[in-house]
Amino acid sequence: MKVLVTGGAGYIGSHTCVELAANGYDIAIVDNLCNSSPKVMDRLKTITGKEFPLYQVDIRDIDGLAKVFEAEKPDLVIHFAGLKAVGESVAKPMEYYENNISGTLNLTKVMREHGCKNIIFSSSATVYGEPAFIPITEQCPKGVCTNPYGWTKHMLEQILTDIQKADPTWNVILLRYFNPIGAHKSGLIGEDPKGIPNNLLPYVAQVAVGKLQTIGVFGNDYDTPDGTGVRDYIHVVDLAKGHVKAIDMIKKNPGVKIYNLGTGNGYSVLDVIKAFSVACGKELPYVIKERRPGDIASCYSDATLAKEELGWVAEYGIAEMCEDSWRWQSNNPNGYAD
Ligand code: NAD
Ligand code: UFG
Repeated sequence: MKVLVTGGAGYIGSHTCVELAANGYDIAIVDNLCNSSPKVMDRLKTITGKEFPLYQVDIRDIDGLAKVFEAEKPDLVIHFAGLKAVGESVAKPMEYYENNISGTLNLTKVMREHGCKNIIFSSSATVYGEPAFIPITEQCPKGVCTNPYGWTKHMLEQILTDIQKADPTWNVILLRYFNPIGAHKSGLIGEDPKGIPNNLLPYVAQVAVGKLQTIGVFGNDYDTPDGTGVRDYIHVVDLAKGHVKAIDMIKKNPGVKIYNLGTGNGYSVLDVIKAFSVACGKELPYVIKERRPGDIASCYSDATLAKEELGWVAEYGIAEMCEDSWRWQSNNPNGYAD
């Protein structure tokens, strides 16, 4: 079975390629490398012992995409390609809507033209907005997003659902990720954000490696056990394995399915700093700052549905997530730039 992975050179996509290869799938990657490095391909070869084609094509380029489909004839698409920086999306809404929404519409058009109607889509817990209840099940209503990035996920879920409704020969699986962190055990691939990281884990990792001075904790007056924000951090390798399970489900022609991919556990910002301090063997400095606009107090999943229907459960805990993230960061202080 041939899987086309859009955004396969990125953080989650590259880890998913490792798991796909381990499960015997043929892989082709489409990535315009706007937020990733071609070096990922060598690292993937070292880890898997296999070489996959990388097409440096933008998903907004319909002719370029069509050529990839003609050459590769994929049976299924795992669609990671997209822009994902929350703050940047507020400053550049047109670029975000164009890249994520027009790009996905192009992709689905080309898929339809080539008779490939199976898609697994990277969605996000952000679609729940301020969640109506916690732990969040898939029954929790979608909420009001606080930024254009979140709306692209919200809208694309609807668009893909409508496509399947109009043509039931499509199969669509929407995976709502919670907070992916960690890295492959080899320390060869991991998260490599451009500039100063916006997300907690890469920021903490860069303080640990000495590239940044002090962690800013965004608020300690939330209604949580220690007052800092609580999230459902999930090891990226567990997340990647969730995609392999989703392929097993797609083979059963399920129509539209939605799954949360999280651990079901919430950890606070201070819990994460503590766990990372243990992983890197030194106390990490932090200061309490103002709340970050748009943040919510707590967000963690009920991952029962994925367990029952996909047979998937996250295996790694916060200690291992931090250890693996530290291995990646300390082996590659400048990410793929070295
Ligand atoms: P990433 O930026 O590392 O990977 C995305 C990849 O897509 C990059 O390699 C980038 O170069 C590529 N890309 C972007 N626009 C493209 C285009 N127009 N054409 C071709 N390639 C393009 O991000 P990631 O963390 O691996 O996230 C993967 C997906 O999961 C994204 O859709 C993201 O929104 C979603 N997601 C991520 C998180 C998270 O916290 N990392 C959480 C929820 C959902
Ligand atoms: N935080 C800090 N200091 C930092 C960065 C973050 O205290 O320097 C705190 C935040 O306030 C929050 C927690 O750490 O309480 C996690 O923040 P992240 O920015 O790492 O993650 P978010 O939960 O805000 O958002 C992430 C992605 C979104 C995605 C969401 C759910 O950035 O795109 O997870 O999947 F939608």
